[in-house]
Parts: sequence; structure tokens; C-alpha cells
Amino acid sequence: MGYKRNVQAHPMVRERCQDLILDNDTLKKIGDIFLDNINRGLKKATHEKSIVKCFPTYVQDLPDGTETGKFLALDLGGTNFRVLLIELSGEHFEMKSKIFAIPQHIMLGSGEQLFDHIAECLAIFVKEEQVQHETLPLGFTFSFPLSQKGLTKGILQRWTKGFNCSNVVGNDVVQMLNEAIERRGDVQIDVMAVLNDSTGTLMSCAWLNRNCRIGIIIGTGSNGCYVEKQENAELFNDVDMGSGKVIINMENGAFGDDGCIDFIRTEYDREVDKHSINPGKQVQEKMISGMYMGELVRLVLEKFTKEGLLFGGKGSDLLFERGRFYTKYVSEIESDEPGIFTNQREILEELGLKHATEQDYVNVRFICECVSRRAAHLASTTIVTLLHKMDEKKVTIGVDGSVYRYHPHFHNLMTEKIGELCDPSIQFDLMLSEDGSGRGAALVAAVAARQKKNALS
Ligand code: GLC
Repeated sequence: MGYKRNVQAHPMVRERCQDLILDNDTLKKIGDIFLDNINRGLKKATHEKSIVKCFPTYVQDLPDGTETGKFLALDLGGTNFRVLLIELSGEHFEMKSKIFAIPQHIMLGSGEQLFDHIAECLAIFVKEEQVQHETLPLGFTFSFPLSQKGLTKGILQRWTKGFNCSNVVGNDVVQMLNEAIERRGDVQIDVMAVLNDSTGTLMSCAWLNRNCRIGIIIGTGSNGCYVEKQENAELFNDVDMGSGKVIINMENGAFGDDGCIDFIRTEYDREVDKHSINPGKQVQEKMISGMYMGELVRLVLEKFTKEGLLFGGKGSDLLFERGRFYTKYVSEIESDEPGIFTNQREILEELGLKHATEQDYVNVRFICECVSRRAAHLASTTIVTLLHKMDEKKVTIGVDGSVYRYHPHFHNLMTEKIGELCDPSIQFDLMLSEDGSGRGAALVAAVAARQKKNALS
């Protein structure tokens, strides 16, 4: 059966989706509020109460090519937990990795259980790779808000995304990792650095491109970091970093937790928030990232179906089941050529919606587009705010995360929107990071290991 290509979303559907569409004036207004939030996070006097924390990281130098040897990396905080072994020799990189599941009961269990599990996975991996008798330097990508007290000391401020383990908030996660490894007694490691995935992304892109000064994650969660002048990072003023620059982990997923962007939130956003494990927290993240995008779409579909605007008013148990419309569906549906609905038909059939008509297909795609565009536009606003703040004429932005990587239009949507909102005198480009959280962690560990060795010799 051939489809007509000129069918548009139903006018009522378009009308009811209006509140998901943010025009440029609104985005600029959000950008202004965001800038104020960043500045409050950076300043000593306001940091404590600030929502966007802007934590200074202690990650500084880039690899200079003299780093050699084997390094381990742990990557916790995305869809998967990974352990990696990386071998560096000059510019050459070899990497082996293994993905481990973190079962739900561990994500919501005690901190000790979580770190025991991590240590166990690490032990399995180093034995498989036969490096269990070496004490390898390790970079720990821990993608949650950490207040850093040094390169190897980070105090967890709050859990985000799907995690909520007891007795970790307020503690040093590197110490917890070391203790879990000691409890086992069968492996040795030397933790050289703990870092955020956005920082890893920035570092791994900067390794290839010296203009890279921003790292952005649009994955399970969403966050960004950027290179700030040390004089502006007031919390950091007592530390001598030499370069006068410091990487700031903004933790901007929390933007809006004080209600400052409530004027753009919809009933779907409130519903997602209400049923999350951290209600009232990570407001902007819940509008952008992969952990929530599918559910936002599902809530719109559910509502419109119940109003008779979709599927002849007849839904299905699966459509009405929380969490059952996966974010990858949004990417798959938008990957269909316009007017052709191969992926979408399969997805809707899987959800028990065999009775969908061509008009339904067009409507569903439109709804997916509204939700994913809004995410791309909000992420773009974050970047434009930084570009305007940074006082550089040419900036590369390293980006990673499942939404950016797998959504077929996210990169283009962002490039287009940043182009519209950004001062034309600033040149920018978005660069896909090649595994920032794994490779970035190894690079940071490698630099720290080299510096330690030099300091000792
Ligand atoms: C959440 C975390 C943040 C991380 C982001 C992306 O926002 O709090 O640390 O960078 O997810 O993984």
C-alpha cells in the first residue's frame, strides 16, 4: 500500500502540541535566566543556594603524547556500567571493554552493595584480561553531581537518573570504591582521577581538537561542562592550576528546580516528574534526556487517544503502561522517510495498535518531533549561553550521549538552532565524541599518572 506524502498532522493535534514548541524569544529568555544561574553557581557568596552548581573539576592538562602504558577506566552513570582497559602508546590507542548490568535492586540498594558490585565487575574483567597482578592507574567516570575536593576526591551531592543508593550522598565515592576493592582483596588499582562524563567528553574531543572547550551529554541524563577563566570560578581561587583555566561541571540538568522555567513546563513534564524517583529535581534534564523522552511522548499519546484524537479513541494496555514507550522508538519513528512508516508500523503493532491509520502515523510522528525538537532546542540554548559567555571566536563543542548519537536529526536540529541564536561572529561546530566517558577517563588517568611519576622522579 502506497502512502500519500502530503498528509499533515491533524489541525487539532497541531493545536494541542503548541505548548511543546518553544520560539526563539522564549529560548532567549531561558538563556538569560540560565546565564544568571551559571554566575550564581560560580560565585562563593551564592554557590551554596544556587541550583546550577558549576562545580570546579580538577581535571586540567591534556595528554601530550608521552603517556604510555595500560590504564583502566570505570564508567558508571549512563545506560550501562562499563569496565575498560586501554593501552596507550604515543597517539595510538587500543581499547577493550566489557559491559555489566546494574540490576535495579542495586541501583536502589545500599551504597556498599553498589560499590561491591562495581569492584566485583572490575575483578572479573581484570582476570579475564590477565592484568590482575598489575596495579594499574584507573580513571573513574562517575556521572553524578560531585563536589570535588581534588582529582581523586569527590563528594556525592545527590543521585540523579535511575540511581538512589543509600549512604552515598555526602561521602567520597573514590574512598568507597577503594574500600570495596580492599574488602575483596584480590585486585589492586590506583585511582588517579574521578570525573564526570561531560568532562571526559570534553577531554577526549580536546585531544583531537584544541578548540574544544565545551562538553555536552545528551544521553540517559543531560549535562555540560566548559572551560572557564579561573578568576571567575571563585570556589577554585585558592588552587593554583597554572593555566588560569578551570573546567566547570555545570550540573545544569538541575536547571529549573527552583521553578524558574515553570513557564515552559507542560502537564506532561509535571506528570513525568511526579512519577520519577526524584520528584522536583533535575527539571531541565527531564525535558531533554533519554531517560524521560519516550515517556513524555507516551503521555501525549495517551492523553490524545483518550480525547479521541488518535487511534479512533482506542488505545492499548501497553500504550497506557508507564515507561513502555521507549526513547529509542522516538529515534526509530523519526528515522522513517517522510510518508513511509516502516519502523513506526512495527512499533505500533508491538504496542497493540494495529488499527492505526495513516493519519495516526503522521500525527504520532509529529508528536515525536515536537518532543525531540524541544529537547534539541533547550540543549542548544545551553550551548549558546556558554558561547556568548566565553569570549572565544572559535569553539568546538564535544557532544556524546545516546540521544545525540542515535536520534537521526538531533545534530542538525542543534546546529540549526545554535546558528539562529548565536552571535554570528562566533564560529562553532558540534563534534561527536568517541566514547568520552571511557576514553576520556583513561586519558585523564594517563596524564595524572605521568605527572605523578614526574613528581616522584
Ligand atoms: C546527570 C548527572 C550528571 C551527568 C548527566 C549525564 O545529569 O547528574 O552528572 O553528567 O546526568 O550523564
